[in-house]
Amino acid sequence: MLIDTYGRTATDLRVSLTDRCNLRCTYCMPEEGLSWLAKPDLLTDDEILRLIRVAVTDLGITEVRFTGGEPLLRPGLVSLVERCAALRPRPRMSLTTNGIGLARTAQALADAGLDRVNVSLDTLRPDVFRTLTRRKRHQDVLDGLAAARAAGLTPVKVNAVLMPGLNDDEAPDLLAWAVDNGYELRFIEQMPLDAQHGWKRDGMITAEDILASLRTRFELTPEGGTERGSAPAERWRVDGGPARVGVIASVTRPFCAACDRTRLTADGQVRTCLFAREESDLRGALRSGATDEEIAGLWRRAMWGKKAGSGLDDPAFLQPQRPMSAIGG
Ligand code: 5AD
Ligand code: SF4
Repeated sequence: MLIDTYGRTATDLRVSLTDRCNLRCTYCMPEEGLSWLAKPDLLTDDEILRLIRVAVTDLGITEVRFTGGEPLLRPGLVSLVERCAALRPRPRMSLTTNGIGLARTAQALADAGLDRVNVSLDTLRPDVFRTLTRRKRHQDVLDGLAAARAAGLTPVKVNAVLMPGLNDDEAPDLLAWAVDNGYELRFIEQMPLDAQHGWKRDGMITAEDILASLRTRFELTPEGGTERGSAPAERWRVDGGPARVGVIASVTRPFCAACDRTRLTADGQVRTCLFAREESDLRGALRSGATDEEIAGLWRRAMWGKKAGSGLDDPAFLQPQRPMSAIGG
């Protein structure tokens, strides 16, 4: 098992398959993009599979989420999913994507064994989408979502980040649209993970703001009492249900005490937290002939060093060196 000194156990592995992306969301990247990892630095498909196998068979991982950058840009994705589905015990598998290209691949991914997708979509207005992501791809995302639903990659979850002055008036419209379309909407508070270090706590739209805005049009009742376990999203039933909405208050109501995650970057570094300032290198071990037991040992040691929390509330908080796109969401 992967346990830390605070008694938490990681069962959820997030694997970043690439740091590249075909969008340039303002809360993530600068317009010109970033200097991407060099190909030889990226783990190969076989290396990724080996690490996932060790995680699943030796370390108690039950849930694998593929992320990026944009994971659909990884050529071997469908085959990775297929090989991952053949592992025993078979992990549950999901994908966090911006949805571009999903219309083409959703069925193949479902056939390969993918269970679910989370698609990022922050706005229903094509012009705002263009401002937010700096690309004209709004319709591609909508098409990708529809294809995911048709392929049975359900529940299809939609992640939305509200940005002041851009889409902060859209929460109720987004929810009405998600309910109509059978998608489960989750709002994520903007976190200080942008490459440009432009995040300001003062301006950010908080969970409280989001809920107040939703309540102007919907009746929200908390689901599952106050206990949200390790699920970062607090969920509400919408107008009595069955539709639900989630809010991930990573900044104003952090869920670190119940965190069950471990992360692997596209270049083979274990990170115990989005906000960690240390990483543990597994790629070097892989490439110098380490055994499965040695790799598992390095991963356990990394987990043992997991900090209690994100440190966001510490006045001395420093943003991690890597931006979100190179860590994996
Ligand atoms: N704050 C909050 N969410 C972010 N995402 C990317 N960058 C940030 C940020 N700085 C979201 C994406 C995607 C998920 C992986 O995280 O929109 O939905
Ligand atoms: Fe790409 Fe996701 Fe970053 Fe947007 S938030 S630029 S979709 S990696």
